[in-house]
Amino acid sequence: MAPSTSSGVTLNINGEKYTLSVDHRTTLLDALRERLDLTGTKKGCDQGQCGACTVLLDGRRVVSCLQFAVAAEGREITTIEGVADGDRLHPVQQAFLDLDGYQCGYCTPGQICSAVAMLQEHAAGWPSAVTEDVRPEAGPPPLTTDEIRERMSGNLCRCAAYVSIVDAVAKAATPLEGEAVA
Ligand code: FES
Ligand code: FES
Repeated sequence: MAPSTSSGVTLNINGEKYTLSVDHRTTLLDALRERLDLTGTKKGCDQGQCGACTVLLDGRRVVSCLQFAVAAEGREITTIEGVADGDRLHPVQQAFLDLDGYQCGYCTPGQICSAVAMLQEHAAGWPSAVTEDVRPEAGPPPLTTDEIRERMSGNLCRCAAYVSIVDAVAKAATPLEGEAVA
């Protein structure tokens, strides 16, 4: 008998459990969009280069086009639909609105998910490629424009709304500095 090419999987997305059968080759991105109607997560390149499909897996940002859905079982998945706290927008979402951190908006869900995790990484003291003092005791570096640009460099914006995106991330940073990644 030929081995099965699909499996039942239960995905924990935004605090809800979804059980479905997926082909083993189904990406998390396609499961979200095509099977679960969670279309806030966007498909840009489908090969890990644009960041449009960014979601959080156990609080860390990943490109969902490079994750198999079956491998996401047992993980906490957060998509753009789950970033807000009920009717209260996440500070990153609010800052993008306040400062027009978008034009067409296609990259925006990925930008916001990425920024949410990036600010937690920064608050936890993770260095970036442009951090000058990488000693752990130095603590988080100042969140300069260069730091934000480097840390968000995996998220492309074809409208080139980068100036406003950087401003929005900087604005959102202050109230989030207390949250740390595990
Ligand atoms: S669609 Fe996943 S990185 Fe571009
Ligand atoms: S706002 Fe259009 S791609 Fe970024």
